[in-house]
Amino acid sequence: MRYAPESVDQVVSNAPQPGLRGDYRNIRPDYGVEQDWAAYSAQEHALFAKLCRRQLALLPGYACDAYLRGLALLDARDAIPRFDAVSSRLKAASNWEIVAVPGLIPDRVFFEHLAQRRFPVTVWLRRPDEFDYIVEPDVFHDLFGHVPLLFDPAYADYMQAYGQGGLKAARLDALTFLARLYWYTVEFGLIRTPQGLRIYGAGILSSGGEVVHSIESPAPRRVAFALERVMRTDYHIDRYQGTYFVIDSFEQLVRDTAPDFTPIYARIGALPALAADTFAPGDTLL
Ligand code: PHE
Ligand code: FE
Repeated sequence: MRYAPESVDQVVSNAPQPGLRGDYRNIRPDYGVEQDWAAYSAQEHALFAKLCRRQLALLPGYACDAYLRGLALLDARDAIPRFDAVSSRLKAASNWEIVAVPGLIPDRVFFEHLAQRRFPVTVWLRRPDEFDYIVEPDVFHDLFGHVPLLFDPAYADYMQAYGQGGLKAARLDALTFLARLYWYTVEFGLIRTPQGLRIYGAGILSSGGEVVHSIESPAPRRVAFALERVMRTDYHIDRYQGTYFVIDSFEQLVRDTAPDFTPIYARIGALPALAADTFAPGDTLL
């Protein structure tokens, strides 16, 4: 089984919904809350450290260099970090911050944060029995999976552009298409390097099983990133992906997503979706 379907909820639906696990009672208008670092128990810090250790052991040769560099700067391995300390380091590196949130937040609020270079990070940690799999994103997925790449200047710009694009897609009723882009880049993206294929997607990097699977398994398709192909492709939220899309650089990602999406949404809105597990005409296999 694979990791959290958070971006579906985060990007597509109108979370928060009943049944969400966070505590939404003390949210600010932007859904921000206090991290309340002192409230984490010793067991929670130990569980976070254990998750980091397991994942760190898996990553050499699989995670991309920019991610590993950011992870070193994040310096989160022995305990759940204090969010303000993470924010000051990020601010200095790429002018991003993180904001504590109770869990999934409404699409528009999420996009507003990204557009202002603020990444929402869930405050709570999974339970020990959820070591390998959790349905909603927690502080481990959000911090360990997403935050390291925000230290990278090009990736950081992509995330801000995505937030701006989200606000626009919401107006155009095109969130389904934009959510697929998030899914296949930010959560499950692969990148081609001189040393071979590497991972940059947070959903893979914070997963115990998909790190090796995404690179080594003969089962999934690995297809060169093509914007409209990605935005037309369905995805799995409850198992490993059937298709991964591969970029050559974060600069390519920024460049290929820079054009106005309005005519693209109109064009692909008239076409059928592509299945998660098939090749499509024009695919470049890697
Ligand atoms: N160029 C996109 C648009 O015009 C915005 C965007 C940029 C969306 C980067 C996603 C990622 O809608
Ligand atoms: Fe995520």
